[in-house]
Amino acid sequence: MAEQPNGHPFQPPNPSSKPKYSLATLSIHGDDPINTTTDVAPALHVSSTFRYPSDPSQLSPKNDLDVPDRAPTDPAPADSHIYSRLTAPNTSRLELLLGRILGAPCLTYTSGLAAFHALLIHLHPKVVAIGAGYHGCHGVLHIYQKLTNCKIVDLFDEGSWQNDGEGWSLGQGDVVHLETPVNPTGIAYDIQHFADLAHKRGALLTIDATFAPPPLQDPFVHGADYVMHSGTKYFGGHSDLLCGVLAINNRREGEGGRKGWDWEKRYWDMVGERVFLGSVMGSLEGWLGVRSLRTFELRILRQSQNCETIVRWLNECLTTKSPSQDDEIVRQSLASISHAAIQSTSTPPSDMAWLKKQMPNGYGPVFALSLKTARQAKHFPSNLHLFHHATSLGGVESLIEWRRMSDDTVEETLCRVSVGAEDVGDLKDDLLQGFKALAAMGDGR
Ligand SMILES: Cc1ncc(COP(=O)(O)O)c(C=O)c1O
Repeated sequence: MAEQPNGHPFQPPNPSSKPKYSLATLSIHGDDPINTTTDVAPALHVSSTFRYPSDPSQLSPKNDLDVPDRAPTDPAPADSHIYSRLTAPNTSRLELLLGRILGAPCLTYTSGLAAFHALLIHLHPKVVAIGAGYHGCHGVLHIYQKLTNCKIVDLFDEGSWQNDGEGWSLGQGDVVHLETPVNPTGIAYDIQHFADLAHKRGALLTIDATFAPPPLQDPFVHGADYVMHSGTKYFGGHSDLLCGVLAINNRREGEGGRKGWDWEKRYWDMVGERVFLGSVMGSLEGWLGVRSLRTFELRILRQSQNCETIVRWLNECLTTKSPSQDDEIVRQSLASISHAAIQSTSTPPSDMAWLKKQMPNGYGPVFALSLKTARQAKHFPSNLHLFHHATSLGGVESLIEWRRMSDDTVEETLCRVSVGAEDVGDLKDDLLQGFKALAAMGDGR
């Protein structure tokens, strides 16, 4: 038994007893198995290199691609680190914790886009079906296309997934990539529907679940093979770190699992590929990530509830048959809003029962609102006091963005709102006074 600096013997937790903890508990205790010191808050390790054993008889030369003698879901032992482009204590701890939260082995990357890049390199598809969504992912895919000449087809038009004339079709080993809920509208899509489409062709379903991390949805239950997140958003949660996450489906059969799926080999391949891509998070970011995840469940549920309350309120302002004075003020400038909580049957497939099934605990905390004119959309963020006018999302601070500032694929009338963890009454009051200021401004056309 190891002796601690304070003289207390260190009793490592017993890894053979793994009770099924809830998300709130896992976020705080999922990394207990690597508590090797008496610190309650984990230490920040800054070293990029780690000493080999001092006993020459324990020196066994390693290759960067050697698969360690442990399961992907087990913690990396404290004395296993060699060089921080391979593994390092703070990022390994973050991966262990995220693995518990996502219920699948996962790896972290410098950013969400670095994770998507690593996913494409790992799967090297010849055909990728992708829909609308975060424009940055399309940017990464176009770089990949430049290198590989892959075909990019429309996710929502299955007819475009093959071209008999040119002799290609989306099939074995290719990728169907779905972002849900989608940026910037917050509308959700039926994961199972796209899993079935992909799997019947031997293709893989990858999900960008950034907008709705657990407990809002679990794409693996509905057939996803890989799940990616921009951890910069809800996992980080404080607008102060960049992070990307890739998780792999380790459910062999039954609930969301697949027959003959060698996820362990795939996982270790991704580990090896990351060694050479070099897109590992820094130790400070890894440490910040763990710190953030302690309050993850509180934040995500509060933000999701706040968002739904605001969306339902604005929807009521737009649709009520007996509008109040305030409703009339909102109606003067607001043309429409979009979000999963109020999405209609026009999104495929038309039966909406899947939505409650796939998002039983609430929807993503981002929605979009369209003003009647581009001028109103450009002015609205500056009228608000509690919403920062900034890009990104997921932090405890509410944000609003006139989306044309960073995405030229959207209408000039659109503002994207990332709802934070403030008091929802205060947020509604702030939005209402913002609409009053727009009304006072006149249409100025
Ligand atoms: C849905 C989605 N995926 C991926 C990303 C990219 O994440 P990152 O900025 O961490 O690279 C973003 C960023 O906004 C996003 O919204």
